Amino acid sequence: MNELLERFIELYGDNTTSATEMYFSPGRVNLIGEHTDYNGGYVFPCALDFGTYLVIRKNGMDRFRFATTNFDDRGEINIITELEKKDNHWYNYPLGVIDQFRKQGARFEGLDFLFSGEIPNGAGLSSSASIETVTAFALNEIFNLDNSRLDIVKLSQKAENQFVGVNCGIMDQFAVTMGKANHAIFLNCATLDYELVPLIMDGHKLIISNTNKRRGLADSKYNERRTECETAVDMLGNAQEMENLSQINFARFIELKDEISSETVYRRARHVISENKRVLDAIGALKNNDLVFFGKLMNASHDSLRDDYEVTGEELDTLVEEARKIPGVLGSRMTGAGFGGCTVSLVEDDVIEQFKKVVGENYKQRTGLTADFYIAGVGDGTKKIS
Ligand code: GLA
Repeated sequence: MNELLERFIELYGDNTTSATEMYFSPGRVNLIGEHTDYNGGYVFPCALDFGTYLVIRKNGMDRFRFATTNFDDRGEINIITELEKKDNHWYNYPLGVIDQFRKQGARFEGLDFLFSGEIPNGAGLSSSASIETVTAFALNEIFNLDNSRLDIVKLSQKAENQFVGVNCGIMDQFAVTMGKANHAIFLNCATLDYELVPLIMDGHKLIISNTNKRRGLADSKYNERRTECETAVDMLGNAQEMENLSQINFARFIELKDEISSETVYRRARHVISENKRVLDAIGALKNNDLVFFGKLMNASHDSLRDDYEVTGEELDTLVEEARKIPGVLGSRMTGAGFGGCTVSLVEDDVIEQFKKVVGENYKQRTGLTADFYIAGVGDGTKKIS
């Protein structure tokens, strides 16, 4: 942290007329409930203990200056006249947040920003939500904008949807802003009601395995899946009025299945509706200390994402297959949007070293890629660092 402050002063000078503040927002890993958020369903993510730091200070100019320790790319932008999306620059994330605040009527003074991200980007651990929310949280405090944490979640999601142009759901921004150490968040994405559930995992850890296959969310099949789900709602709507797929349970879905005239659309809907049930069952399992059942549900979630939703791909499937071969691995699944990115596995403490070694070697042999492994520490949501 001191290093980051030193870097900030190196970049922007040692101006003592304005306070220099530091903020943090984590990454997230979703334990179960994938591709349900934009379908009004259930998710069960937790915040990680690594994320994005932001050092920020008013600069007395009419400019926002952006820098990061992660890339060489720096930006300098007039606070009024130049607030539009910049091609392929990372600082579209903070700019999108500024844009949303301005649409709400907020007025800013010039600021210097230095970000430092610990989340591998493109890995499906929400590096973008982390940047957005840390920016929103900091601006909200510095300019006394009086937004709640939930406002920050919604505003950051809008920034990503409208400014960056990725049509994501609300899970990532919610998880990184509302997270609590050693808890996962059971969120109903239709009502935004949520419950913090203690993650008691006697003798086990969550291991995140990174395929290191880059996952382009914006130009991926993500939006196509959203459209397929909307088509399913339209088709089912002929028999029963509904706004989203999460308004019917699995039994009702089977009753109505002949309404869906496309086999692909049927499988997409079957994933969403069965996944909602798995989230509810998984939370029950966790509350009963039944990690074995929790692991089975993780496996079933992956299989549904692979076969029905078709968002996994060779790298994720290989990592999951190799993980499941190791005795002491209770469950393994992809996490996040898919098409690359990471898996999450529930692993007995005693086999963690074996897991990294054997899964790593076999994955390399089968795909030619080198995986990275992290033990997921579950941390707090967005905060100011004093
Ligand atoms: C990405 C999106 C989320 C969610 C997941 C899939 O992470 O940003 O909103 O849809 O994919 O569960």
